[in-house]
Amino acid sequence: MAEQVDIALILNGEHVKTKVLVDERLVDFLRDRLRLTGTRLGCGEGECGSCTVLVDGAVVSSCSMLALQADGTVVETVESLASNEGLSPLQEAFVEEDAVQCGSCTPGMLLASKALLDRRQTVMDSDIRDALSGNTCRCTGYGRIVAAVLRAAPRHSASLLPTPPDPSAPSYYRPRSLEEALEVLVQRGGEVRPIAGGTHVMPAIHAGRIRGQSFFDLALVPELAGIEIDETSLRVGASTTFAEAALSEALGRHASVLAEAARVAGSPQRRNRATLGGALASGLADSDVAPALTVLDATVELVSISDRRLVPVAEFFLAPGETVLAADELILGVRIPLRQGLRTTLGRVTRRPGPGPAKISVALGMCFSEGHPSHCRVAIGGVSLAVQRATETEQALLTGGFAGLQRAMEVIRDEAEPLDDERSTAYYRREMASVLLRRAVQALVEG
Ligand SMILES: Cc1cc2nc3c(=O)[nH]c(=O)nc-3n(C[C@H](O)[C@H](O)[C@H](O)COP(=O)(O)OP(=O)(O)OC[C@H]3O[C@@H](n4cnc5c(N)ncnc54)[C@H](O)[C@@H]3O)c2cc1C
Ligand code: FES
Ligand code: FES
Repeated sequence: MAEQVDIALILNGEHVKTKVLVDERLVDFLRDRLRLTGTRLGCGEGECGSCTVLVDGAVVSSCSMLALQADGTVVETVESLASNEGLSPLQEAFVEEDAVQCGSCTPGMLLASKALLDRRQTVMDSDIRDALSGNTCRCTGYGRIVAAVLRAAPRHSASLLPTPPDPSAPSYYRPRSLEEALEVLVQRGGEVRPIAGGTHVMPAIHAGRIRGQSFFDLALVPELAGIEIDETSLRVGASTTFAEAALSEALGRHASVLAEAARVAGSPQRRNRATLGGALASGLADSDVAPALTVLDATVELVSISDRRLVPVAEFFLAPGETVLAADELILGVRIPLRQGLRTTLGRVTRRPGPGPAKISVALGMCFSEGHPSHCRVAIGGVSLAVQRATETEQALLTGGFAGLQRAMEVIRDEAEPLDDERSTAYYRREMASVLLRRAVQALVEG
């Protein structure tokens, strides 16, 4: 039986102090222990959005987060919407627009809509579709739901978030400093692994790909947070979420391809939780972050109790899902050198429009001097080792002009070593790598 620990949170406006099992999902804690069954459990893998709740005002999938990680936060479930006076304007609008059939997706849709309208009252169709892109409805179609949110917008009053309580969980499950976190790794190494956003490990536990492993949470370690800039480089902390990276002004200005990768990587629920460190450590084949970091010549900063080392991103991955990260090490963050005049872009092909893992992606970084290319980096995602740097393609592009581009488009077909799996053939991926390269060069030259 897993250990129980104390947590403190504000749940639907009430201060709650309680015990949770260290391996308990937030969705199970809400539904089974507290009988807040408005939160639905669908896929259990972070894909459908039925289990959406708000944590500190942001949408998250409660199936992909430990209850332990709600310690010191403000959580809102669908039960918070109605009051003694009746339904909230959003709920009324869903009824008025017939935006509900079986109701399975409705709690998640309502909370994702609330999160949007709490941020901005004037919304357009496209804002709503974007905010609801992590929520699947199998019955009504999305037109009525979008109409309901548009109808509710003028009547919605944004709620102010209360100050969250101090976290209560013990530091061997939620360390408060880097030193404490590294000590947990050494003293309890093998027995516990770090967890950050949980968007990779929680679905893997649900699907039985990870068994018998318990976790300690990195969210309270201040050394892993933040984005800093000095004269020569940017440092992005490992706990930076995709949502933070997408909105970062410093990244937008100096490493826009990383902000772009974070913006397209998955649903709003995932972007609010998934971290840069988690993306690197899980070594996924379809990562958007690894190709972006490769064209930026980034290095991964690793730290153990006795050592610190820097590893270039392209050398960080060893085999599918395997990296150079040792059992006693944590990823502290990434360092990105500032390069004057660097232009970057990322192109990707997904199964359907909107957020979703890329079948193939191409990141490109180039500098130009008097109209000629003077520096070039090409990185391909959708390959078994998370990222492949395409050095021969880079050389072809550096020869410049239309002839250089045509040659590079041929070279990348031979050089790319893409996956060949149920989502796509290697042949299709190679052809698309060539097309994405042409589009990327066009975007840089025109942009
Ligand atoms: C349905 C789905 C769709 C997705 N779509 C995309 C997509 O379109 N584009 C994309 O790029 N990615 C996508 N992803 C992957 C997503 O980017 C990763 O799940 C996420 O980045 C992992 O980060 P996390 O913080 O949630 O990691 P966690 O799940 O918390 O951890 C993952 C691994 O990293 C380790 N870890 C975490 N932080 C550290 C650290 N600081 N030091 C050492 N080890 C650490 C953990 O021990 C664990 O082994 C998708 C995932 C899912 C489930
Ligand atoms: S149950 Fe599908 S995202 Fe959580
Ligand atoms: S109303 Fe049935 S899934 Fe949306």
